[in-house]
Amino acid sequence: MNKTILLKNRPEGKPEISDFEFTNMEKPTIKEGEILLETKYISVDPYLRGRMKDADSYVKPFQLNEPISSGIIAEVIESKNESYQKGDYISGNLEWKQYQASNGDNLLKVDPSLAPLSAYLGILGMTGLTAYFGLTEIGRPKKGETLVVSGAAGAVGSVVGQIGKLLGCRVVGIAGTDEKVEMLKSKFGFDAGINYNESTDMAKDIASATPDGVDIYFDNVGGSISDHVHAQMNRFSRVIVCGAISTYNETSIPMGPRVEQFLIKKSALMQGFLVGNYADQFPEGVKQLATWLKEGKLSYTETVLEGFNQVPEAFIGLFDGKNKGKMIVKA
Ligand SMILES: NC(=O)c1ccc[n+]([C@@H]2O[C@H](COP(=O)([O-])OP(=O)(O)OC[C@H]3O[C@@H](n4cnc5c(N)ncnc54)[C@H](OP(=O)(O)O)[C@@H]3O)[C@@H](O)[C@H]2O)c1
Repeated sequence: MNKTILLKNRPEGKPEISDFEFTNMEKPTIKEGEILLETKYISVDPYLRGRMKDADSYVKPFQLNEPISSGIIAEVIESKNESYQKGDYISGNLEWKQYQASNGDNLLKVDPSLAPLSAYLGILGMTGLTAYFGLTEIGRPKKGETLVVSGAAGAVGSVVGQIGKLLGCRVVGIAGTDEKVEMLKSKFGFDAGINYNESTDMAKDIASATPDGVDIYFDNVGGSISDHVHAQMNRFSRVIVCGAISTYNETSIPMGPRVEQFLIKKSALMQGFLVGNYADQFPEGVKQLATWLKEGKLSYTETVLEGFNQVPEAFIGLFDGKNKGKMIVKA
């Protein structure tokens, strides 16, 4: 038995379980030069929603009736490739299957003695690197500046806020529940937090949480939350456009206020990015994140669903804010 999850339909609006097909495939046998991998942890990420659309993007769309893929930690359970030994653990962009063969290309060995395996999908993986490079390369934080983070209690946002604190910023997080806002302050050291689902006046709440205005806005969500933050930006401020999850399930792109006026009047910078832009600096980024983690200067949290078949549920849960920190499935 080799449980596999395929894309059955291209979701219209918010994805549903019926958009996925649970099937069984043959367990592969490996040829010379290949390894057999057993999936241990699966990362679900908001960007996968974009790959479910049949649209041109920076990565090819998933094909209907084919396995979906994402960041996976797997164990090498058989090897006919001299670069890998049985018992090695790897991280890579792999298919949503319990077992798969690989020629070993584009995989990264991970060391379970240095950090828990799941950390390589989060704080020491793609989302940690997104936080680190987006904030340091585009935000260029300076001591005493005010940093606002949306999607603050998620995998990227929770790390952005902590790095902001390490670099001397005053950090304000925006998240979807009181419990998350409390976690931002008590566990991750944010100075203030706003629950956007409870706020009756976001413009006022953001303004009162940022009495000196906003120097850096790390945006994970887009939409109306961001419109309100833009209104508070200072001169020479930076808006880091990392994600726009509030719009990913829209069937047409919603209109908001035009940004040109505030960018001009405030001489502000607004820049989007893909973490892959910094691929050649990943080793340096992982080293820095691992050092801070070891020194106890960074911490992280995960929401882990148990069981391979929970992958679609975990993915859909991202759009309902079901996760604190990185959303992961333990196979
Ligand atoms: N540019 C890049 O290279 C790059 C790389 C990684 C991730 N990203 C982007 O960064 C963002 C965060 O990714 P992540 O992996 O860290 O996910 P995440 O924040 O761990 O999970 C998604 C969170 O988004 C919030 N959310 C869902 N729907 C929302 C809505 N309509 N309005 C406001 N918030 C909403 C939920 O938290 P609440 O309970 O707070 O609503 C949910 O927990 C995503 O937009 C993602 O696409 C970009």
